[in-house]
Parts: sequence; C-alpha cells; structure tokens
Amino acid sequence: MRVIAIVNQKGGCGKTTTAVNLAGALAADGNRVLVVDLDPQAHATLALGADPERIDENLYEVFADPDGPGRLPRICIPAGSNLDVAPSGIVLSALEQKLASEPVETRTARLAQALDTLGDRYDFALIDCAPNVGLLTFNALRAAREVIVPLETSFFAIHGVQKLLETIALLAERIGHELQVRILPTLYDGRTRYARQTLGEIREMFKDLCFDTVIRQNVKLREAASRGRPINAVARSANGAHDYAALAIEVAASAPDVALQPLVTDDSPSREVVVRFRDTRATDVRIAGDFNGWVPDKGVRSLIEAEGETRIWTKILHLAPGRYQYRYVVDGEWREDPDNPDGVASQVGGRKISKTSCTTSSRSRSAPRILPASARPARRRWRCRSSPFPSRAATWCARRSHGT
Ligand SMILES: Nc1ncnc2c1ncn2[C@@H]1O[C@H](COP(=O)(O)OP(=O)(O)OP(=O)(O)O)[C@@H](O)[C@H]1O
Ligand SMILES: [Mg+2]
Repeated sequence: MRVIAIVNQKGGCGKTTTAVNLAGALAADGNRVLVVDLDPQAHATLALGADPERIDENLYEVFADPDGPGRLPRICIPAGSNLDVAPSGIVLSALEQKLASEPVETRTARLAQALDTLGDRYDFALIDCAPNVGLLTFNALRAAREVIVPLETSFFAIHGVQKLLETIALLAERIGHELQVRILPTLYDGRTRYARQTLGEIREMFKDLCFDTVIRQNVKLREAASRGRPINAVARSANGAHDYAALAIEVAASAPDVALQPLVTDDSPSREVVVRFRDTRATDVRIAGDFNGWVPDKGVRSLIEAEGETRIWTKILHLAPGRYQYRYVVDGEWREDPDNPDGVASQVGGRKISKTSCTTSSRSRSAPRILPASARPARRRWRCRSSPFPSRAATWCARRSHGT
C-alpha cells in the first residue's frame, strides 16, 4: 500500500479537495483507496458523504485507546466503488492534550501502526491533514513515504511553502525515513497573467518536485464536495475531473520504486518516432508509456496541427530500439491508439485492455510500421520494473532497422 500524506499548514489551498478527488480518480482507475481524514474539521469525511455527527467510532478511538491501531479496519466506511474513508470528528482536536504524557516515539507512531493492520486491503491510503504541523500531521508524515503539498498559485502561498519543506525535511530526519515530496499547483486561473506568471515561478523554483498536472479553479469541485462525492462521480466532463484524473495518472506512475530499467542494454542510439492522434473534439491529448515513466508527455515534443476541423496531435518520441507500452490521455481519460489496428480487447480483473504491437522500420521521423505481435523482436526490451498500467497499456516495439 502506498501511503501519501497531503500536507500544507496553509488553510484553504486544496488539501481536502485533492485527497477526495485524487482518491476518486485512483479508485475509478481500479485502485482500492482509503482516505484517512486526519483533520478535526472532518471536511474529507463530509466530502465523501459521511456525517461526522452520526458516526459512532472515528479516528479518535484509533489514536486514544491502547488497542486503538487495531480498530482502524472496523471504522472504515464505504464511500464509493473501491473507495473508503476513515472518518474524523471534532473530538480529534482533543488528542494532542490526551496523548501529551506519552513518549513522542509512541504517540507519533499511532497511525503507522494502524495502517499496518490493514495488510493489503488497499492500494493507496491518502491522508488529509489539518492546516498545521501538530501531532496528527506528524503521525501522517511518519506513516507516509510520499507527501503531496497542494500549493495555491499565489505569491503568499509560495512564500510559506519553503518553510514547510524545511519543516518536512527536519521531521523526516527525526523520523528516520525518506519522504518523497511533490508540489501540486492548485486553484489555478489560467485566464489571469498573474496566475500564469506565478505558475511559472513555482515550476522554476521547484523544478522536478512539481507535478506536471495543474489543478485549475473549477466551481464543480465545490459542488461535488457539497454533494458528498468525488467530482468524477457527479461531473465527469468538468475540468476538475480531468485535472484529478491526470493527477491520478501521474501519481500512479511515479511510485517511489518505479523506475525505467533496461533488461538488455544496448549502445545503439535512440531515434525519433512520430505518432499522431486525430480528433475534432479533444482539447488536450498527451501520450504516456513506459518510455516516459507513464507521466503524460514527459520528454515528448508535442505539436498540434490542423486538417480542416480535425486537429492532429503530433508526438515526437526519442526511443532506443526496444518494446514499449503506451496509451494516450485524451482530456484526462485513457485511450487506446485508434490508428493501431493490432488492438485486441480482453478482460483482466474486469477491466478492458487492448494490446498492440508495431516496429519502427526506419531512422527517419515516420509513423511506426504496424506488424503483427508475432513479429516482435525478442531481444532489446525495456520494461518498467513495476509497470503501473500493465492492464491498460498498448505494447509498441521500436526496432533497429537492418544494416544500422
Ligand atoms: N480547484 C478548485 N476550484 C475551485 N474551488 C476549489 C478548488 N480547490 C479547492 N476549492 C475550494 O476551496 C475551498 C478550500 O479547499 P479545501 O477545503 O480543499 O482546502 P484545504 O487546504 O483542505 O483547507 P483546510 O486547510 O481548511 O483544511 C473549498 O471550498 C473548496 O471547495
Ligand atoms: Mg482540509
């Protein structure tokens, strides 16, 4: 189970919105997800349709009782398909005082112990933290290996986050394990020059720490919260749903232990491979595969051309000879390559998959030549050590042409 803490001491920057909607998007992709509401305000609990006032047992018992950690599986409430919430309540605000006499070592390890009791019940636990770095947030950082810091695209937000990153680094040192921290720009209003400039500064400042995905302002996110559902359950085509779907792809693709690893090293040079996706309605088309760690458009040169009403997204990839898996992300949704005729639909774990294969036949920038799967080269393969999307990927072979 990947445990991800969503942390920022600044209020209102989108922590809860991110916990709930990233959870919804990961769950829709077939992951089993638990949202751990570690904020006494209980906003995540509410945004997932549970009323904190009517819940008998919440995380307070898990923290306060000596046998509490073992109670976590019992307090989890279903909040949708593949999605549960460990609820909070205002009573959590009394925990700091209640546990004050316990040694730091034990009172900060409660959540980690509790999550351990879940075994392999979930693929992801997303912890929504309160806007402070107190006992509960410390518990979250101890339990997690990854941290997402939602960052409102505004000047003051950037100013405060440096301090937070220093605090996290300090805590990680005390905890004794590494934390992979990433910044998520939120509440972005691309219509204003100010927001565009600020986003540029955030990217410049945090570079690779910053997600490619940006969460745009979208009123549907507020509406979904008030209806107690993740946005993808109530407004699938809203920008907010697209943005969190894209974030889910990026998160799923960037597990700390996922790395591109050549099975057979090859000193041959990489070559340009050009693929094209045609559509009249799509507004955003990206390509993700094991060649770019499943991060949409990472390391890819992208051009948009027009052919009458139809827009053509041209993706230029640099690939060493090998076998690759890829898919398109069209307005936040996974799609097979419609121009790859070798697609085969089948069912794995109830989900539709398709497999295709092709080889490049020349050095030049040309569309890949499609060959039957049996023509795949057995040698020169690359693969993701643990491919995040084995069931939804197309397979693509790029092969050194004869005589080169
Ligand atoms: N991308 C967005 N577009 C529009 N509204 C948003 C967006 N993200 C968050 N909001 C709204 O902004 C408010 C604050 O968001 P949220 O509750 O997620 O922040 P938070 O960091 O969890 O706040 P707190 O620190 O109080 O827990 C909420 O009303 C939420 O619906
Ligand atoms: Mg919140």
